[in-house]
Amino acid sequence: MPVKSYTYIFEEFGGSDVLHWKEVELPEPGVGQVLVRHEAIGVNYIDIYHRTGQFAAPLPLPSGLGMEGAGIVEAVGADVAGLMVGDRVAYAGGPPGAYSTSRLVPAARAVKIPDSIPSDIAAALLFKGLTAEYLITRCYSVQGGDTVLFHAAAGGVGQIACQWLNHLGANVIGTVSSEAKAVVAKENGCHHVINYSSENFVERVRELTGGKGVDVTYDSVGLDTFLGSVDCVKVRGTVVSFGATSGPVPLLDVSLLGAKGSIYLTRPSIAHYTAVRNELEASAAAVFDKIEKGIIRTDNISRYSLKDAAQAHRDLESRRTSGALILTP
Ligand SMILES: NC(=O)c1ccc[n+]([C@@H]2O[C@H](COP(=O)([O-])OP(=O)(O)OC[C@H]3O[C@@H](n4cnc5c(N)ncnc54)[C@H](OP(=O)(O)O)[C@@H]3O)[C@@H](O)[C@H]2O)c1
Repeated sequence: MPVKSYTYIFEEFGGSDVLHWKEVELPEPGVGQVLVRHEAIGVNYIDIYHRTGQFAAPLPLPSGLGMEGAGIVEAVGADVAGLMVGDRVAYAGGPPGAYSTSRLVPAARAVKIPDSIPSDIAAALLFKGLTAEYLITRCYSVQGGDTVLFHAAAGGVGQIACQWLNHLGANVIGTVSSEAKAVVAKENGCHHVINYSSENFVERVRELTGGKGVDVTYDSVGLDTFLGSVDCVKVRGTVVSFGATSGPVPLLDVSLLGAKGSIYLTRPSIAHYTAVRNELEASAAAVFDKIEKGIIRTDNISRYSLKDAAQAHRDLESRRTSGALILTP
């Protein structure tokens, strides 16, 4: 029987006011799909890039929004192995559309949530946790004793990554835009915090590392920080550019990487690090394990009603938030 869902869609790219509600009838799940009734939905900065059309390949319109949710499987399509009606699942990735009361999800993107973890926590932390996992253990494998610079350390991905890096025994330097966020970053794994609104972060990193530079810089801020990030790494160090909250990363003359010290540069995407099912499962298991052990904290989640998604977007893009954001139907 068709199921009703209330969902956000947008028909043009723009500000948070382009989002509007629509009642839709969901068909039975197709091959490889499950119907999920959401208990909570994760808000990620990528949702803002999607809404504004900021990506190199913008979404076809009209479009739903949201890459992450958690809830109960209410129907299962053909050729779905390992999931049953009543299972509690979380998913990250796949087609946008999580800002809804229920939706069809590719079963290949869904993982069962351990009994010990509430659905709202899974919705808040899975996408960001998967991101932190692949960035710090696979994209560049951080070792105990490495010195790491992580920008936007008080943000959603930033907090999880810095908690995890600290657990790995890295020396963690975080950047933030305010003194209040500096306190948050310190409480979440950073040994040193630089306010990049008021300090020259390149000079501070050089001071903190005795002029040597860090082993790896993780940069999701883009325009405002990218060139400085290259200046912060040691000879043969690595720059991981994984986002552009301040604007697109400037075009780079590749020879600069040689001149700056044979620097490694990568621009990874979660899509490519979780596309293979056993990598997704292993990454999700690592995230859930870190949550269960208290290594990833669950106490800094901002909660909004699903109907207030536009407000959540305004808060996120105006840098008023720290930690993860969720919407509840
Ligand atoms: N490549 C991937 O696989 C992947 C996957 C997930 C997320 N990401 C990226 O990771 C980043 C963090 O995502 P998130 O969802 O956890 O968001 P978030 O970090 O909670 O929020 C973004 C933060 O970026 C900082 N920022 C710096 N300049 C900004 C500007 N001009 N406008 C807005 N924010 C600015 C702000 O922190 P301060 O106020 O402290 O500067 C802000 O809180 C995003 O760039 C996202 O695209 C990439």
